[in-house]
Amino acid sequence: MAQRFDVLVIGGGPGGYVAAIRAAQLGLTVACCESNPYADPKGEPRLGGTCLNVGCIPSKALLHTSHLFAEAAHGFAAQGISVGAPAIDVPTMIGRKNAIVDQLTSGIRGLFKKNKVTLLKGHGAFAGGGEGAWQVRVGEETVAAGQVIVATGSRARHLPGVPVDHKLVCDNAGALDIDAVPKRLAIVGAGVIGLEMGSVWRRLGAEVTILEALPDFLAVADADVAKEAAKLFRKQGLDIRLGVTIGEVKTSKKGVSVAYADKTGAAQHLEADRLIVSIGRVPNTDGLAAEVVGLKLDERGRVEVDAHCRTNLPGVWAVGDVVRGPMLAHKAMEEAVMVAERIAGQAGHCNLDTIPWVLYTSPEIAWVGRTEQQLKADGVTYKAGRIPFAANGRALGMGETAGFVKMLADARTDRILGVHVIGANASELIAEAVVAMEFGAASEDLARICHAHPTLSEVMHEAALACDGRPLHF
Ligand code: FAD
Ligand code: NAI
Repeated sequence: MAQRFDVLVIGGGPGGYVAAIRAAQLGLTVACCESNPYADPKGEPRLGGTCLNVGCIPSKALLHTSHLFAEAAHGFAAQGISVGAPAIDVPTMIGRKNAIVDQLTSGIRGLFKKNKVTLLKGHGAFAGGGEGAWQVRVGEETVAAGQVIVATGSRARHLPGVPVDHKLVCDNAGALDIDAVPKRLAIVGAGVIGLEMGSVWRRLGAEVTILEALPDFLAVADADVAKEAAKLFRKQGLDIRLGVTIGEVKTSKKGVSVAYADKTGAAQHLEADRLIVSIGRVPNTDGLAAEVVGLKLDERGRVEVDAHCRTNLPGVWAVGDVVRGPMLAHKAMEEAVMVAERIAGQAGHCNLDTIPWVLYTSPEIAWVGRTEQQLKADGVTYKAGRIPFAANGRALGMGETAGFVKMLADARTDRILGVHVIGANASELIAEAVVAMEFGAASEDLARICHAHPTLSEVMHEAALACDGRPLHF
């Protein structure tokens, strides 16, 4: 007889494993199936999805190592520390990254055991429905569940006709396993992955050229932040070429050759030892057999959902990269908790307006809420408070004076509408802005909160004061 569960989660990434744990905490019988594309020495299903295996966690491990290397090479001398020219042992760096990934993925297996979530190894695909239960084929068996949560995530989009061999031509997975510093690294796509992975290998000594289709750099960010970032990244040696059209990509024993038209339309080509393709991601819905049950997909192949992640089918939900909204791990986890709680009859909630973005470049970039250009387009009258890190004592002491905090508040109500940070520890600083916005705070509320001295958080405080034209230290 088919195994039957209250809830079956398809996919064990941040959306899937968090949904499974939360549903089990709420007393439901839960299984999670994982199709397991990640190499595991014991052939076990590896949980954690893109994020833990080939995304957030491994990229941040490499960013940290390369940041220390860059500090030793360029930052220490100004503070009177001489260590000579640093050398990088790439296999050790990659080994450390792999150990972190192993620790975290096996940690989730432990959490499944603790919460009594049944882990099923195999690809999940809808096999039928009705009679109060959905049937899902998982590998060789068919499982029945009253509620199904689709959390199948996304995979890298590739350039048409350009095979990814993870050696000469890499997507995000290969980019995290490059075994030696390439002399010349080409990247197609100046988005989040292109900038983070470009930073890693540039810091370690590669000549990095990034080819971007759009004429504007980092168009997703606030325009002031994007302008500052372009200036700082180019100073670091990232050669960013905008408005290009990629042509033929050829590989040979000598490396990779990328033909492209530059922004004037003139034919160019770029020779490199390696190529990383980071041009966005596509949802994993093609293997789900959505048509068998009539699960509705949108024009981009994502599962169509409402604000509570309900699909068009009763008892079928979808969360994370496979649905609309930003492709971010914390967004997937928020939706996962919401759905599990709603299945259990609670009022789970996920506010897509307060999902923070972080780029772990140097300096870091983080924001929450609307950009200045979005407010203009929406016809909102707003006020802005902008304070540079150069005016902050802690930033000076750390030698991290680049960047600024910009706060945008409604001119009429003073409610905070967006906060944009480029600077050291932006990834941590943004949390204060998220809390403020989640509670509907005004810039005056932040201005009246005591911030420890000396800390970088004082720049956030000053930006709030600056919204009212009364910064104290600038
Ligand atoms: P995924 O993590 O993609 O997980 C889906 C899982 O489902 C996978 O394990 C897959 O094998 C499995 N699966 C797919 N189809 C099936 C099926 N039919 N049956 C069974 N199993 C299936 N986000 C951040 O917030 N911060 C970051 O710093 C960050 N860095 C990133 C760096 C890189 C290089 C990349 C590529 C992404 C990064 N992201 C980051 C994005 C983040 O990884 C994703 O948003 C997040 O993993 C989405 O979670 P998910 O559970 O929706 O999907
Ligand atoms: P992206 O959407 O961030 O950037 C892709 C870039 O490639 C865009 O600038 C786009 O204009 C460009 N592009 C698309 N087609 C192109 C072409 N044919 N030629 C040249 N340029 C082209 O996608 P990316 O970097 O692949 O990352 C995918 C997603 O993963 C991100 O959007 C984000 O959701 C997530 N991510 C999050 C991170 C974080 O939170 N720190 C880190 C890395 C990834």
